[in-house]
Amino acid sequence: MSVEIRRTDPDELRAAANTTRIALLDGPPDDETWTKHEVRWRTLRSFSAWEGRACVGHIGGFAVDTTVPGGAVVPTMAVTSAGVLPTHVRRGTFRRLVDALHHDAVADGVVMASLRASEAMIYGRFGYGLAGEALTATVDAARATPMHGAAVGGTFELVGAADLHDVVRPIYARATARPGHITRPEWLWQRYFENVTGHTVENVVVHRAEDGSPDGYAHYELKWSDDIFGDDHGTGTVHELWATDASVEVALWQFLLTIPLVKRLSIDELAVDSALFQSVRDYRSVRVTMKWDEQWVRLLDVGAALSARTWTDAGSVVVDVDGVGRWQLGDGAARASSATADISTDVAGISAAYLGSTSWWELVASGRASAPDHAAITRADSVFAHRPLAFCGSFF
Ligand SMILES: CC(C)(COP(=O)(O)OP(=O)(O)OC[C@H]1O[C@@H](n2cnc3c(N)ncnc32)[C@H](O)[C@@H]1OP(=O)(O)O)[C@@H](O)C(=O)NCCC(=O)NCCS
Repeated sequence: MSVEIRRTDPDELRAAANTTRIALLDGPPDDETWTKHEVRWRTLRSFSAWEGRACVGHIGGFAVDTTVPGGAVVPTMAVTSAGVLPTHVRRGTFRRLVDALHHDAVADGVVMASLRASEAMIYGRFGYGLAGEALTATVDAARATPMHGAAVGGTFELVGAADLHDVVRPIYARATARPGHITRPEWLWQRYFENVTGHTVENVVVHRAEDGSPDGYAHYELKWSDDIFGDDHGTGTVHELWATDASVEVALWQFLLTIPLVKRLSIDELAVDSALFQSVRDYRSVRVTMKWDEQWVRLLDVGAALSARTWTDAGSVVVDVDGVGRWQLGDGAARASSATADISTDVAGISAAYLGSTSWWELVASGRASAPDHAAITRADSVFAHRPLAFCGSFF
């Protein structure tokens, strides 16, 4: 029987969710779980694969804005809930789902797609490039403190469930120094803080500047162990930490690492160039436990994306994107060009470089781009590079 790809009807969403969960090695949601997740599913641009009346595959995307180098935001489709039943894989079904989703988003003027991959091997062939990495780490509190640059004044306050969203969301909205930051839909905010009820071990601490305005927060949980002779009887996990200024970020780390009884903290997601590394007293107090491919980005409208970010005034480079177009980038702008290319790549290559973190040096070295000489690569890197590095910090 042939497989049909089509937009998912609202009354088919639960079948699509069942299929996706099975593909992702989970069970179909029970009624209670579905009630919780339905609101998210109803916001999705959703395409599914059907064999007769059976849903055999799904892919979805929800709308966010992504901060790009220079601070502008571009309309983005955050791709999610992707999977094909194990009984139907390797027949081209997923490729057809991805094509349908991209085509639909392009028709609506969406500029880029972004996703968090279950496996790093899947998405390059669909034009996605690795645009931003992230770390997980552990920190030894005694060795890390006192930290350099942590004295910013102001106060710390534990916020209760009642005020939580009103306080943290404006901080998050202003903490956009890094490309790759996304706006969060309502359901994602609810999911991030669903366990901060005032009756669990999860806490949110807010930093207030001396004028009383909130300018940073950390979401964390702590655990006490009965092994009082061990090194690990006070441990915790930092789920996220956002600040409007790097010095406030450091002050929040210092606060967390000097909570009485806390010996060691795990960090769920950390920027590769986090201020933590240079600020701790002992560099080796931070042990990186994993470096991973956080942001897979696919430019859907390459010209619009290139025009949305800023470019250095000092020099330019001509980049040819196979089958899409050629642009001169730099000298303050992105312009269509017919000049000889300094760098040649495909849409996955330009997508990887777009946020200013993946270098052309890496892309040429790995055969994902080509350049006539080393000088062209160096110039391309100086035109594209952005500091601080890209980091999203929102998992979906
Ligand atoms: C990943 C998945 C969706 C692919 O579905 P599928 O219908 O088998 O994919 P297709 O048959 O359309 O394959 C498309 C291409 O991707 C390749 N591919 C698919 N899954 C792959 C994987 N896990 N690793 C490497 N390559 C993969 C295929 O070989 C094919 O390549 P080609 O076009 O160059 O020949 C499916 O295996 C799945 O549901 N996996 C578990 C859930 C999951 O990981 N979902 C993704 C969440 S981010």
